[in-house]
Amino acid sequence: MANTETYNDKVVRQFAVMTVIWGIVGMLVGVIIAAQLYWPALNFDVPWLSYGRLRPLHTNAVIFAFGGCALFATSLHVVQRTCHVRLLSDKLAAFVFWGWQLVIVLAAVTLPLGFTQGKEYAELEWPIDILIAVVWVSYAVLFFGTIVKRRVKHIYVANWFYGAFIIAVALLHIVNNISMPVGIAKSYSVYTGAVDAMVQWWYGHNAVGFFLTAGFLGMMYYYVPKQAGRPIYSYRLSIVHFWALIAVYMWAGPHHLQYTALPDWAQSVGMVFSLILLAPSWGGAINGIMTLSGVWHKLRTDPILKFLIVAISFYMIATFEGPMMSIKTVNSLSHYTDWTIGHVHAGALGWVAMISIGSIYALLPKLLGRETMYSTKWIDLHFWVHTLGVVFYIASMWIAGVMQGLMWRATNEDGTLTYSFVEALNATYPYYLVRLFGGVLVLAGMFLMALNVWKTYAAARSVADQPVLPPAADTELAPAKG
Ligand code: HEM
Ligand code: HEM
Repeated sequence: MANTETYNDKVVRQFAVMTVIWGIVGMLVGVIIAAQLYWPALNFDVPWLSYGRLRPLHTNAVIFAFGGCALFATSLHVVQRTCHVRLLSDKLAAFVFWGWQLVIVLAAVTLPLGFTQGKEYAELEWPIDILIAVVWVSYAVLFFGTIVKRRVKHIYVANWFYGAFIIAVALLHIVNNISMPVGIAKSYSVYTGAVDAMVQWWYGHNAVGFFLTAGFLGMMYYYVPKQAGRPIYSYRLSIVHFWALIAVYMWAGPHHLQYTALPDWAQSVGMVFSLILLAPSWGGAINGIMTLSGVWHKLRTDPILKFLIVAISFYMIATFEGPMMSIKTVNSLSHYTDWTIGHVHAGALGWVAMISIGSIYALLPKLLGRETMYSTKWIDLHFWVHTLGVVFYIASMWIAGVMQGLMWRATNEDGTLTYSFVEALNATYPYYLVRLFGGVLVLAGMFLMALNVWKTYAAARSVADQPVLPPAADTELAPAKG
């Protein structure tokens, strides 16, 4: 029976292609707003081109469209391959794909028009929120339903991370978006004041923890061992990693609200849990990187592995920096500055984008009946252009951020401020240009990826769904060690 059944590869391919397309769109908007910060006149006095409207378009496009499609593609690929069964339902899979694309298109129309709830990363208005909830619950049924019908007893650890991501995002989305509609495109949150702020940043931080981290760790746990051809370094560590991360993340949200009207004890709880979070984050990252022990030489010749491993290194940078920034005295310097933006993109461009790009390069050719993408050289070039772009982006923002923080707090002997705000802004301009340059490099890399995907499709040997493999075929994923 096992050799007549096939996997549903169509939905994986669809999401993989949309990852690249939405990646280009979201990053293009990122480059535009980076340019606007240097040349403010670039909004041409058109309301829907104004910075305030394009910025949420950028964040929604890169997180939910680019990151989201990468998460859907890989999770639906991994769950089938590790459970050795076809997805629960083809119809549901198609609904999840088209439903999510509709959400993205609605976001791309309403955000520039100025419809917003005014909550960061939860800007979309209530009718779209309801659609998201319906699509998300369908996704949960599809994913967990597939796990239920699995052919192997053991549930591979990547699925644990994807599963936690799916459950947590459903919870966060529903709780944070409870609101009272007053029209088709306007609603008011049921929470008020400091409670509203706390719920919003409980959501915001866990959006980072579960949307931008847990699911991508799922990618790490599948594609790193597969690409390296070795089992994960320690299976036991992966279980400790999972439970520690899940238990700690939920409490760290108040670090976004240091020195605000939030009760002081809550701010301290946020800080302490953020500091603890360093341990599971680095433990998991070390588990990923050490999977290469014995095969380090592969890094010289395999650009996909380079993407995956450098992604984990950026994850370590972001998860070291984050706990430091949550310390109140450090936060008093970093908050409101471009240091935060540098931190965000170390995580977003370094970790999220690189692990996604590496995973898509790893999975796509196999679903087109090929061993590799059309050009491995282009993947290598993409790797270097992207890495350089990220370094230009985050280094410039770190320097600019620390400089801004120091200039804003500098005082003269008589207690007056040494610098006006405009002086600090003027000093920042050169760094905005460097950031723009970094962004253009990253975007150029995405165009190269699109070309490579196009050419790989043109040279595809077969787009037929592949036969379900027997469990014994997965030697890299067996819980062999530790
Ligand atoms: C070409 C690549 C990119 C460029 C040029 C870019 C540029 C920007 C700019 C200019 C901002 C606004 C900064 C500010 O308001 O001071 C921003 C914000 C943001 N970007 Fe990007 N971005 C890129 C890629 C990404 C990716 C791939 C992600 C996520 C996966 C991402 C996530 C974010 C987030 C979450 C924010 C909001 C940060 C905050 O509010 O603190 N960006 N980006
Ligand atoms: C141990 C892990 C981490 C901790 C403790 C942490 C902590 C922090 C802190 C303290 C801030 C600044 C809050 C403020 O001053 O407003 C921040 C902002 C942010 N971090 Fe992290 N971070 C971690 C990992 C990550 C990772 C891996 C990513 C991305 C994938 C990320 C994405 C963000 C974003 C998007 C913001 C900006 C939120 C906003 O104001 O819009 N963080 N983080």
